[in-house]
Amino acid sequence: MSIPADSLAIRQDGAFVLLVSDRPSERTALERAISFVIDCRAAGPDAAGLAGRPVFALLDLAPPALKTWLRKLDERMPSIPRLALVRGEPETPSRNTQFLSAGSPRKVVLSHAFAMIEAATQTASHRAQRLQDRTRSAKILVADLFDSVALGGSVDHGELDRGTETVLSAISESGISAWLAELWRHDAGVYEHTLSVAGFCAAFGTRIGLSKADLARLARSALLHDIGKSRIPKSILDKPGRLDANEERLMRRHPEMGAAFLTAQGGFAPEVIDVVLHHHERLDGTGYPNRLKGPEIKDLVRIVAICDVFSALTERRSYRQPATPAEALAIMVETQGHLDPDLLGAFAPAMLACEPLAA
Ligand SMILES: [Fe+2]
Ligand SMILES: [Fe+2]
Repeated sequence: MSIPADSLAIRQDGAFVLLVSDRPSERTALERAISFVIDCRAAGPDAAGLAGRPVFALLDLAPPALKTWLRKLDERMPSIPRLALVRGEPETPSRNTQFLSAGSPRKVVLSHAFAMIEAATQTASHRAQRLQDRTRSAKILVADLFDSVALGGSVDHGELDRGTETVLSAISESGISAWLAELWRHDAGVYEHTLSVAGFCAAFGTRIGLSKADLARLARSALLHDIGKSRIPKSILDKPGRLDANEERLMRRHPEMGAAFLTAQGGFAPEVIDVVLHHHERLDGTGYPNRLKGPEIKDLVRIVAICDVFSALTERRSYRQPATPAEALAIMVETQGHLDPDLLGAFAPAMLACEPLAA
């Protein structure tokens, strides 16, 4: 006998249902039944946090706790569908929330839950596929960008726009953690670094409420920030260990080489070239190439610098373990005078929630 693959489609790697109930025996019965089709994490109403991202939530709670949990889900994961079992008058369903009387027979509750889980997992698997496609095409695009410049060609503005759009849509639909996990699944190199800095910029820019145009400018600058590295020999870029003094000197020229290249090609906004030239400047004047200080370093540059440092610290390298997000933030906060403290204060809480990069 062969079981059609479709009939097992609900159980997916890492997908789970969140069940919150204040009726212990009902919670046990529902958890057991749901576990037949998908992993189920059950909790009482006082459970502290939400670890991971469920595909569906089933809430079985008295009115005040139900309100609290619905609000919590609205704030943190508004797109997750949920079924709420209500003790009083049933409420009007909203886009993502269905209500059912808590007195309904368990099989009615379960048939509603299973139908919603099936719909949610289909959406989740389509979303995962889309993320895979986006990551693959973004990698090809960045590799082409770097190769073209390395071979003396130019940056194709249309391709760059497509790359910007791909990063922004991937971050807005899947979030930074999923983007990083997909990005670093196979390789670790300058392309992955470029795309993870662009991802951090898109996530951070969205969080601090940048306009669409500023967000696109930020993501585009991030995609180009290390373009000067395309002119650095591969033996230095891929060296499995620390660089010697000469190699380090050459490596430190990548901001100027990148900015000179983009200026010569033409058609790039001055703010974008500013990012490429100055993303290694530090507020206290200890950066390079121009030892700029404080107000000489513009906001867009400051944002890319924070995302660049955070990304570099949390990336795996052949000669050291990656820092966790918390360790990286501790290093960044400790190194006073380098990065914008206000921006870092906004960046830190957003990134602490981000899971470590795949090892
Ligand atoms: Fe750089
Ligand atoms: Fe960089």
